[in-house]
Amino acid sequence: MDHCWELVERDAAVLEDRLGRHEVAVVLGSGWAPHLDRLGDEIGRCPLGTLSGVPAPGVPGHGGDAVSMEVAAHRTLVLTGRSHLYEGHPASTVVHAVRCAITCGARVVILTNAAGSLRAEAGPGTPVLIRDQLNLTGTSPLIGSEPPGEPGNRFVDLSDLYSRRLRDAAQARLPELRDGVYAGLVGPQYETPAEVEALDRLGADLAGMSTVLEAIAARHLGAEVAGVSLVTNLAAGMTDSIDHHQVLAASGRADDGVARVIRTLVDVA
Ligand code: HPA
Repeated sequence: MDHCWELVERDAAVLEDRLGRHEVAVVLGSGWAPHLDRLGDEIGRCPLGTLSGVPAPGVPGHGGDAVSMEVAAHRTLVLTGRSHLYEGHPASTVVHAVRCAITCGARVVILTNAAGSLRAEAGPGTPVLIRDQLNLTGTSPLIGSEPPGEPGNRFVDLSDLYSRRLRDAAQARLPELRDGVYAGLVGPQYETPAEVEALDRLGADLAGMSTVLEAIAARHLGAEVAGVSLVTNLAAGMTDSIDHHQVLAASGRADDGVARVIRTLVDVA
């Protein structure tokens, strides 16, 4: 078995020992950590660095804990940080914590991120439910030696990657909640205006640097996936300039609306 899968087994056991099993996992993206206590009641936490497969957090605005919470009457594991390809990590590292969360019980995974918006009417502060994705990272967490389980199981069907059931249920409760297609790029540079125009033609509504690999890895392990982007800026070419600190400040400023979307998704999980 590939080393990364052994590490998942080992770290999942550590996670379960520290915090128990959880039926829902939430990954908080850049700037979402300040909204943690709006989600529900904390039961316990441990640093993500407790897991040997998770590198130390390296990006300002990202926390680094696994937090056990009671959210909308569901035992929920909230990961307040993530690893990115642009930090130089391989895809297997980027998806490691999500694989561990699923291995210790999560049947629903809710991925959040900060994103640039290609739609002028969905400006900074708008939460957008991810309807589908374009994986433009040029990689996949399923590359490598065959994962454990049925031979061929890595050829996973992504026809319903972002669960229609969860999206319909969330939008029935929050009729004003927009949805869109998220394009995941490697980064860390923001896009050029020409790249944004190309993304628009490809059908993207949002651009970001995370989420797409975790979504694939979660679906591969049979979890139901939901995603929410918090728009922190209009995409390049639609605004004068993009500043990383303003991006973080924009997500920190967001009101209870973003936490309400997560609580709703957990509730319908
Ligand atoms: N592009 C890519 N990633 C992002 C952006 C953006 O405009 N804003 C926040 N994350």
